[in-house]
Amino acid sequence: MQILRDAQGLGAFAGGVFVPTMGALHEGHRALIRRARDVAQGRPVVVSVFVNPTQFNDPTDFERYPRTLDADALACRESGADVLFAPGVDDVYPPSSPPASLPPLPEVATTPGLEDAHRPGHFQGVCQVCARLFELVRPSVAIFGEKDWQQLAVVRAMVRGLGLTLDIQGHPTIREPDGVAMSSRNMRLTPNHRRRAVALVRALAEASRHHDPIEAERAGRTVLLTSRIVPEYFVIRDAATLLAPVQGAPARALVAAPVGGVRLIDNAPWPGFSIEATPRQESGDSRS
Ligand code: PAF
Repeated sequence: MQILRDAQGLGAFAGGVFVPTMGALHEGHRALIRRARDVAQGRPVVVSVFVNPTQFNDPTDFERYPRTLDADALACRESGADVLFAPGVDDVYPPSSPPASLPPLPEVATTPGLEDAHRPGHFQGVCQVCARLFELVRPSVAIFGEKDWQQLAVVRAMVRGLGLTLDIQGHPTIREPDGVAMSSRNMRLTPNHRRRAVALVRALAEASRHHDPIEAERAGRTVLLTSRIVPEYFVIRDAATLLAPVQGAPARALVAAPVGGVRLIDNAPWPGFSIEATPRQESGDSRS
């Protein structure tokens, strides 16, 4: 596996399968890279590690974001990547060239009551960095985790809007043995808060038992509040538009909530989701 610290040499890997990340790789990322390896069929697998300053609305969050490049390189190598692309800020946003105009923000980025309401500007930063990384890496396929469901929808819509020939694929959320969605943020939870975080996935499962969206939302919120977690949102939405659910169309339950000061998000198909039937990290593996 090659490690590239700038875009020189990337050209040789154009047309490959791309997994963009911000590093602090865990089993969820490893699953994305393995999936990339499976679909690559002879094409190169490129993983990027870049902590993108433009998508953080809180500068302290950006400063505190874990940077673990050596461990990330090992995870990439073990999972079958051909290239780890870990550029600096100046490679992604060169100060010498005039700032490229920001890609148009797809409508699904500003769906009321979801991420945009709580992290204004976040998706503009995600679109900016993804458009730039796609330009540098020139992949034919890019793989994103379904844990960031709205991000996946936003990137898909942006790629469509820009007319790029790029297949955006989602990969199911990998969960820890107790059902908590794997996230780099889990490593910031205290043991007590980590135990409480299970309420998010329990809320998704409880909502899934109700076939009326209003009742499902109420049931999910009740599970959270019982664990003294006040959600930013717990909603049932159309899986594609993220607007109000439409009868007969696939829907999704989505949640965001701070647990011990750490903002966690999760989502699941609605109805019909159960914790038992989800992809898991093997027990005994303590990476978070
Ligand atoms: O999901 C992430 O890790 C980031 O938002 C992404 C897609 C790598 C863009 O910085």
